[in-house]
This record gives sequence, structure tokens and C-alpha cells, in this order.
Amino acid sequence: MKLIRISDHKSIVFFTGAGMSAESGVPTYRGSGGIWHQYRWEEVASQEAFDENPEKVLNFHELRRKSVLQCQPHPGHYLLARIEQECPRVTVVTQNIDGMHQRAGSRNVIELHGSLWRLKCAIHGISEDLGETFKTRKCSDCGAWLRPDIVWFGDYLSPDVTDEAARVINNCDLFISIGTSGVVYPAAGFPKIAKNRGARCIEINPEANEASYLYPETIRESASKGLLRLFENQ
Ligand code: APR
Repeated sequence: MKLIRISDHKSIVFFTGAGMSAESGVPTYRGSGGIWHQYRWEEVASQEAFDENPEKVLNFHELRRKSVLQCQPHPGHYLLARIEQECPRVTVVTQNIDGMHQRAGSRNVIELHGSLWRLKCAIHGISEDLGETFKTRKCSDCGAWLRPDIVWFGDYLSPDVTDEAARVINNCDLFISIGTSGVVYPAAGFPKIAKNRGARCIEINPEANEASYLYPETIRESASKGLLRLFENQ
């Protein structure tokens, strides 16, 4: 595996999934101990579930906040934040909603699936809401239940967000995927965009998956180990 010299690259994209946060202790979705083995997403992560029982859905997301706040970013997160300071065009495109990249200092982060730290009123828009528990569960303007600003099952991703992700991926010369099972579209299509554009494509994941064939280079290690190895001496 050829090590990476940051100065050789004009634009780098790190594409991260639940495996990136797994090393910090945040459970994945589908792997062993994954959230969707413990909970039925139909009951806690869909608009229908929210319409039927908003409190149950908000309680579930509060539990997720608590568990995320007990976890800390790992050396791989910090490495990405440092690379962003050294290379002018570094973007993290993440499927994670936990805000771990930002906690480590990354600023240029595209959150495909929204954030655990924002709430949304269908009429009055999005507000930041940090902390273990929700500061408020109802909109102060209209009294409607506020829903987490997260892309749940059956929701559409924001076209602005996916367009922006596709744009940066289309222009990158290095694409590194870290800890994603690569099964959820449209994110699952991103490595194809990078590959077609001739970017160097590398996968870091301890296990192979359906999307692994898209990567000419694979590192079968955990997120931080793989990243530290790839960027050794920098
Ligand atoms: N380092 C790197 N990768 C790891 C690690 C680790 N320490 N531990 C596990 N992984 C890998 C697993 O091998 C698996 O391929 O992380 C991947 C996690 O896969 P998923 O749980 O399917 O998570 P993700 O790909 O992010 O899921 C996408 O699905 O349910 C939705 O909205 C949710 O954003 C999520 C989306």
C-alpha cells in the first residue's frame, strides 16, 4: 500500500459511516451489536412512527444522544481534522448523525443523514439543540412536535446536500471510505463517481462488503489504525 502524501493531492474526500464512530464506542446499525438488531426502525426512526407516537421517537433519540455524549472522538477523527488544516480542499462526507467529526475539529463536513443535534419544525424550520436531553420538544412558534433533523427510513435526502456531496466527490483526486457497509443509496453510489473520475479510491473497513469491489485498494483494519497507517509520518 502506497502511503499518502497530502501535498500530492488537490482535493480529498473522506466518506465515513457508522464504523468510523464504532471505534469511539458508538454502536453501528447493522453490524454485531447494531442498533437495528436492538430496535425496530419502524417504531423509532420513521415519519410514521413519529406521527403515531412522537414521545417514543424522541425518547429513543434522547437515549442515542446520551450514549454518543459518553463517547469521545478517536485519533482517526483528530487526524482528519488536522489534514483539513494542511490541505486546502478536504471534505468529510458522512452518513453519521453523531457530530463526532465536528467535535474533533473538522469544519468542512457534509452530513448526508442530518444531525442528532438539530430539531425541525415542518413550518418554522431547523434549530440547533445540543445537550443530553432536548431543551424543548415543541415548537415555540406553533406548538407542533419538533422532530430530529435526521433522514429516517422512507425520508428523502435533501437534494442540496446530496448535490453538494456529489460535486465535491466529482472533483476529488483521493477518495477514502471509512467504516460504511455501502448498502444505503444514494451514498452507496459515491465511490462509483470518484472511481469514474479517476480518483485514487481506498476502503478502510475490517470487513469486506457489497461495495468493496469498487475499491482497488482496501485496508482491512479499524478506522483509526487504517488511517494512521495510510498517513504515517504526517
Ligand atoms: N472501523 C472501521 N469500520 C468498522 C469498524 C471499525 N472499528 N467497526 C465496524 N466497521 C464497519 C462494519 O464492518 C460495517 O461495514 O462499519 C460498517 C458499519 O455499517 P452500517 O452499520 O451498515 O453503517 P452505515 O454504512 O454507516 O449505514 C448507513 O444506514 O441505518 C442507516 O441511516 C443509517 O447512516 C446509516 C446508514
